[in-house]
Amino acid sequence: TIYEDANTGSKWIAQEIISLIKSRQEKGQKVVLGLATGSSPLKVYEELIRAHKEDGLSFSNVLTFNLDEYYPMQPESVHSYVRFMKENLFDHIDILPENTHVPDGTLKMEEVPEFCRNYELKIREAGGIDLQILGIGRTGHIGFNEPGSGIRSTTRMVTLDGLTRRDAAPGFGGISHVPRRAITMGVGTIMQAKKIILMAWGNGKAPIIREAVEGPITESVPTTFLQEHHNCDIILDKPAAEKL
Ligand code: GLP
Repeated sequence: TIYEDANTGSKWIAQEIISLIKSRQEKGQKVVLGLATGSSPLKVYEELIRAHKEDGLSFSNVLTFNLDEYYPMQPESVHSYVRFMKENLFDHIDILPENTHVPDGTLKMEEVPEFCRNYELKIREAGGIDLQILGIGRTGHIGFNEPGSGIRSTTRMVTLDGLTRRDAAPGFGGISHVPRRAITMGVGTIMQAKKIILMAWGNGKAPIIREAVEGPITESVPTTFLQEHHNCDIILDKPAAEKL
């Protein structure tokens, strides 16, 4: 779906999330959201905060699992996705801290495989992800599933692509400060979500959006695997859709 701008697209996405939370609340059920970082979901989070503050929407029945985190990374670092989520969403709503999950960038290397197995287990125990929101990297990554990530990949440590690190460099004050690795949910983890909404704003994303939507399904562009998902919406603004 192509929206006039990121604002209207983000409002539509936030409304989907709000409706899901409310419908589960009416039934006395919890809801499991898969969350993303980066600039793309910021307006969606602003809208969720607005719904909490102005309309009294409660997040007390919401569990969240974030896609990824740089490795190594301390949670209080300005570059940490833990901090990003607190500052841009969690600190402004009534979600229970124990219901939020972000991959742990502080682990020792040898602790990572077990952590990743447990992350998968926790998602399964929560009943699976009801709605996963995604941005897209210019390499075609979702989460940090860089080119070469298989459709059945699960949560694991990955090496970041050079382009991903270059794109992140300004925020880190130079590429030498950008971590070389990350912990990310796998493509398989994401594909198991009951519903997926991928968003992209701006013409910088137009070439990769064309490959993702119209290109052949391939590990070289992991986002193309979403073409096989039974319930995936791709929400774009006009500039991100200009090459379709
Ligand atoms: C990072 C994140 C991705 C995100 C991507 C795009 O690589 N790990 O989850 O989708 O950046 O970022 P932005 O939304 O800022 O364009």
